[in-house]
Amino acid sequence: MKILSAEVEATAAGPEGYPREGLPEVAFLGRSNVGKSSLLNRLVQRKKLARTSGTPGKTRLLHFYRVCRPDRTLLLVDLPGYGYARVSQQERARWRHMIEAYLGARPPLRAAVLLQDVRRDPGGEERDLVAWLHGYEIPVLVALTKLDKLRPSQRARRLRALADGLPVQADWLVPTSAQTGDGVRMLWQLLDRLL
Ligand code: GTP
Ligand code: MG
Repeated sequence: MKILSAEVEATAAGPEGYPREGLPEVAFLGRSNVGKSSLLNRLVQRKKLARTSGTPGKTRLLHFYRVCRPDRTLLLVDLPGYGYARVSQQERARWRHMIEAYLGARPPLRAAVLLQDVRRDPGGEERDLVAWLHGYEIPVLVALTKLDKLRPSQRARRLRALADGLPVQADWLVPTSAQTGDGVRMLWQLLDRLL
């Protein structure tokens, strides 16, 4: 996939900071540390556009990135990760509000990519999020992350288990690795169908 440019469009804590509507948007969401920022960087072929970190809770605001390809321009939105244990209840409520305020009232939002670590089983948060997004009629793709951490012999079994554990179409479940680039082309292809 040819990327002509990828740059920061806006960084926001709430609706007043969102960019002006016009371009289609794709949101990246998932548990803290699951690899949202890393996968986003892989998709746009920039190593350091979105900040990544081994410390969970790196992304605390909504980051909008404008991506230009020969055939279209769109915004990828990196959302703060949820489920990070070492923050106060109040801080967690604030994050949840920030994410839901965006997902629930953003007309340009065309699709959501829910990230799930391929080695872990999805929890209530993931299932709730999928149900909630379906309620808003926002299509949900699932990117299974960190595929490189799984031995090849374990892959098929994990993929079956994850397909059973999440209420999305099996062919909308994409195994990916931000490290090797596996699944990135497939993710673009699926997104293109939704845009
Ligand atoms: P928050 O911003 O805290 O919500 O985290 P995030 O979901 O944006 O995760 P981030 O991309 O910062 O990655 C978290 C850690 O996982 C970093 O140490 C990354 O290097 C690592 N990581 C991300 N993707 C992969 C992958 O595909 N393979 C491997 N091996 N490590 C990965
Ligand atoms: Mg991040």
